[in-house]
Amino acid sequence: MTTLLFIGDIVGEPGLRFLETNLPELIQMHNADFVIANAENLHLEDHPNGPCGMTASALARLFAAGVQLVTGGNHSWDGPEGATVHDDPRVLRPLNVSSSTPGRGAGIVSSRGGVRLGVVNLAGRSAIPTVIDPFPVLEAQLQIWGVGTDTSSVDAVFVDHHGESVFEKVTLAHAFSGRIAALVGTHTHVPTMDAGLLPGGVAFVSDVGMTGPGGGAQGYDPASFVQNLRFPNDARTPMRLASGAVELGAVLIRLEGGKAVGIERVNLQQSAVQPSAILELTR
Ligand SMILES: [Fe+2]
Ligand SMILES: [Fe+2]
Repeated sequence: MTTLLFIGDIVGEPGLRFLETNLPELIQMHNADFVIANAENLHLEDHPNGPCGMTASALARLFAAGVQLVTGGNHSWDGPEGATVHDDPRVLRPLNVSSSTPGRGAGIVSSRGGVRLGVVNLAGRSAIPTVIDPFPVLEAQLQIWGVGTDTSSVDAVFVDHHGESVFEKVTLAHAFSGRIAALVGTHTHVPTMDAGLLPGGVAFVSDVGMTGPGGGAQGYDPASFVQNLRFPNDARTPMRLASGAVELGAVLIRLEGGKAVGIERVNLQQSAVQPSAILELTR
């Protein structure tokens, strides 16, 4: 049996620092063989479009903390390094976008014991209106890997579906029953309580949640959201990070024989870290 720790959307410096503080212990405590995180909101600097996207330096810290592979979403290409960060094969973006888009949508990570996990990043229309239908795109990727054949290049398949529609996520998970081991949702940043096993050994949760500052809207200061939604024709108000206590949203998925045999939520709150870290994060 192998164990996958998947971490929901990391938001800005507070989310990254909280993960750096807690990830080594989480990996050890849960014997995690695979560590994957959604990093579409990892960008640490203020930017006209908000602190979204990724930078090479932030990704380097994430990989140093123990993350093996990152997934993305609608913000994957935001920020000044939005194209170049995708030169790194450890950085995935949704697979079901135009093939001319920088980056790749699928990758393989291996455990120390040699188990190969195929990872697919998909997006829903609610996150990226122009995406290609995810059903045939996922089917094609399983064919490329030879899933279900004796010569398959992966031992199990994990899918991060980035979008708002619970219906689309759970339907996709059922449609690939017995062929994928897990499908989890990202993008809303709201952790849901529906983590469980679907028929055919598919671990599912409609949203993993985020790893970032609470007290706002999806990790951000709500003032900019209010302004931009109420007055959509005005110049956009830049997004800023929220200033509340940091939370971590993740799931732990147990894999065996190409299927999932368990899934559980892993939630941390800032109060769980040592006092010096709390002061440092909130000053
Ligand atoms: Fe996000
Ligand atoms: Fe998103």
